[in-house]
Amino acid sequence: MLKFDHVSKVYKGGKKAVNDLNLEFKKGEFIVFIGPSGCGKTTTMKMINRLIEPTDGTIYINGEDIMKKDPVNLRREIGYVIQQIGLFPHMTIQENISLVLKLLKWPEEKRKQRAKELLTLVDMTPDYLERYPHELSGGQQQRIGVLRALAADQPLILMDEPFGALDPITRDSLQDEFKKLQKKLGKTIVFVTHDMDEALKLADQIVIMRDGQLVQCGSPDEILRNPADEFVEEFIGKERLVQAKPNITTVEQIMNSKPVTITPEQSLTEAITLMKQNRVDSLLVVDSNQVLEGFIDVEMIDQKRKKAHLVSDILQAEIFFVEKDALVRDTIRQILKKGMKYVPVTDENRRLVGIVTRTSLVDIVYDSIWGEEEIAQ
Ligand SMILES: Nc1ncnc2c1ncn2[C@@H]1O[C@H](COP(=O)(O)OP(=O)(O)OP(=O)(O)O)[C@@H](O)[C@H]1O
Ligand SMILES: [Mg+2]
Repeated sequence: MLKFDHVSKVYKGGKKAVNDLNLEFKKGEFIVFIGPSGCGKTTTMKMINRLIEPTDGTIYINGEDIMKKDPVNLRREIGYVIQQIGLFPHMTIQENISLVLKLLKWPEEKRKQRAKELLTLVDMTPDYLERYPHELSGGQQQRIGVLRALAADQPLILMDEPFGALDPITRDSLQDEFKKLQKKLGKTIVFVTHDMDEALKLADQIVIMRDGQLVQCGSPDEILRNPADEFVEEFIGKERLVQAKPNITTVEQIMNSKPVTITPEQSLTEAITLMKQNRVDSLLVVDSNQVLEGFIDVEMIDQKRKKAHLVSDILQAEIFFVEKDALVRDTIRQILKKGMKYVPVTDENRRLVGIVTRTSLVDIVYDSIWGEEEIAQ
């Protein structure tokens, strides 16, 4: 679908921004370029739609040399989301979404219909169509930016740090949404980011660049297990290298299968006794069938002790948990990101089967580093 054959770019003044890039990707792949600022990511991306022309080498899309195509047509065949959101402030959301459709001379009724259809893809209602960008939140504007790139249903979409300016929570949910969307629509995506978490989460293929050179290209798993060199290791970060321990993949393999639990009908006095006995500051609350109902902790008891007597009076039902076949890699990322001390593990029916604590994860990380050293000696 997309191929770089000895592609280089030297800017006027002699700056070698991209140096002899060779890569090949299949249709439907989510390709993420990552690397330090100035390593040539944007340059590489812009060469794909000829906003920048290569000095050397050839880029092929579906086997066709892009230099042999008309650049304007080429650009219409490729969706593009730029580094800033880039919505036009004086155009309505509908006009913004259907900009490319207008260029492609779609009739107005069809454009409207398409814009409406796209909005529902990201759970926004059609009444946004007549609004202006400044009336939307940053996350919503970003969604519109993404929809605009999807509007003409082009098979290839370029996205240059599309989520870079968002707060972490909005970014996280947009990433999830977008990954689902991409799978559903089967598009080939070329995506640029600075953020390794984002790359690991979204990519089928990660391309790591440095000083205009390709350092490593592979699936997230391949890169985590076999980082090409110290630069890549550094870039991935130590805590993610736990992945390098191939025999540990699911949380079930590392969880403690005897979490300390209590039922909603038990008293807070019993809860305190249990905590003391087991030296824990938090208890998981389960019903008689072991179904996870929430948690209580020392602070909650302390604050509400005067008015409350039963666990059910103070129990916090909103609780993050993972199923037992969740990947250790993803769970670690979530624990670190959310700053959690532990995560309950359930079966597919939300029955509690174990707990993964932050401390146990730290052990595994050390274990994998220690293990490597032992082999080296
Ligand atoms: N028009 C230009 N003329 C000269 N040099 C340029 C031009 N555009 C980019 N460069 C240089 O080429 C190199 C690669 O730039 P590029 O924008 O591709 O990096 P990037 O990886 O996208 O960086 P960032 O992560 O900061 O967006 C940089 O050293 C940059 O200064
Ligand atoms: Mg850039």
